[in-house]
Amino acid sequence: MTFAFNLNLLLNKKAMKADVLLGLQWGDEGKGKIVDVLTPDYDIIARFQGGPNAGHTLEFNGIKHVLHTIPSGIFHPTAINIVGNGVVIDPVIFKKELDALTKLGVDFKSKLLISKRAHLILPTHRLIDAASEAAKGKNKIGSTLKGIGPTYMDKTGRNGLRIGDIETKEFKEKYDTLVEKHKQLLSFYNFDYNLQELEPTWFEAIESLKELQFVDTEHYLNTAMVSGKRVLAEGAQGSLLDIDFGSYPFVTSSNTICAGACNGLGIAPNKIGNVIGIFKAYCTRVGSGPFPTELEDEVGEKIRQIGREFGSTTGRPRRTGWLDIPALKYAVMVNGVTELMMMKADILSDFETIEVCTHYNFNGQVIDYLPYNIDPNYIKPITTTLKGWNKDLTAIENKNDLPNELMEYVRFIEKAVDTKISIVSVGPDRKQTIRM
Ligand code: GDP
Ligand code: IMO
Ligand code: MG
Repeated sequence: MTFAFNLNLLLNKKAMKADVLLGLQWGDEGKGKIVDVLTPDYDIIARFQGGPNAGHTLEFNGIKHVLHTIPSGIFHPTAINIVGNGVVIDPVIFKKELDALTKLGVDFKSKLLISKRAHLILPTHRLIDAASEAAKGKNKIGSTLKGIGPTYMDKTGRNGLRIGDIETKEFKEKYDTLVEKHKQLLSFYNFDYNLQELEPTWFEAIESLKELQFVDTEHYLNTAMVSGKRVLAEGAQGSLLDIDFGSYPFVTSSNTICAGACNGLGIAPNKIGNVIGIFKAYCTRVGSGPFPTELEDEVGEKIRQIGREFGSTTGRPRRTGWLDIPALKYAVMVNGVTELMMMKADILSDFETIEVCTHYNFNGQVIDYLPYNIDPNYIKPITTTLKGWNKDLTAIENKNDLPNELMEYVRFIEKAVDTKISIVSVGPDRKQTIRM
């Protein structure tokens, strides 16, 4: 199918604004669940960055589903789901996602569009990711090994292969040229690989991708907004993994913050409406890098077990710690968050008291902001103790039934970051969502 775009319409300044939903911590805040919950309020859901390093979990009617590249609005009957230009796509993983949807009877063909400008993850990108991580030894990033870093390197290095290239007759030639470069790069590492084993599956998956619609999604989205359609941009990873503002170099390779939605979809900054920031009632991080409030004791283990904090993409145990207000304030600032949503409040139900980090001791000085260096040698968290609510929340449906101590926790955070919390999530299911 081809789309015709009306440029006169695009010049109309009275377009709808797109809302952005993103994670404010180190990923896995529960973005997938909330996008699914909010989709009935939108016509289009669009992923703007990241790739299959993401694992976004949705639960409804007893079904649990994990999406990696496909937007989390795909289960709704009418919403259009867009994989934007800022996303990097591994055709093999994408095909598996499509197969899983087919099994569940989801008709995605008419409602899933891919940007022609999105970059492709080649098998050799994954190999380079693995070789690079192995070579770093104990300094490894803890990457998901999905080829994310090398693919974005080729994008900024202007060597990448894009979805739009698939439809050209030079596609195989371009692929071969890039793979030659990658082989040279791999020869610098002491790393064994068998590319021939990986290539047939990759090319088969490219054929499956061709069944979907490759679109100039920047035109599609802007035209839709002018004609009154409501767009929700879905972030992946979290603000503290942002390539510029995260704990570099222990970050991912894309802009996970709100500005990434402009680059990753072709939506101008003055067309951004609400910025919805999601955070867990505590903190988790998977992979290496500094984590100021990390609990490497039985309390941390208790949060991990009750919260089932194991990666949706890699299965790795997630590191756990208390809520970090200076880090949250930083994320609210760089994203221009207009509305907060607090996830996994139910996980803290078993605690008599709850700690919150309000400040850091930074080289002997007390500060309330996130400094350049958050290495444990430089900063130590200063916490305050709040009363726990000691009550199961998972069956609560109404704000008025939330325990007082939880409301105190909500107010404490709202005051500290000067932003309202509009949803408190008390379980993984769609229904376990309390509007405040
Ligand atoms: P995402 O990457 O931000 O979409 O988050 P993930 O799906 O990787 O991780 C969040 C995990 O927490 C998933 O297993 C969700 O099903 C689950 N989850 C989301 N919200 C809640 C909640 O409020 N309570 C509980 N117990 N689990 C939740
Ligand atoms: P969602 O969208 C949590 C982490 C990795 C590693 C670092 C770099 O589910 O929240 P990469 O593979 O991107 O080069 O890895 O970033 N990471 C995530 N952590 N949730 C994610 O996505 C992540 N995507 C990447 O663990 O530390
Ligand atoms: Mg995840």
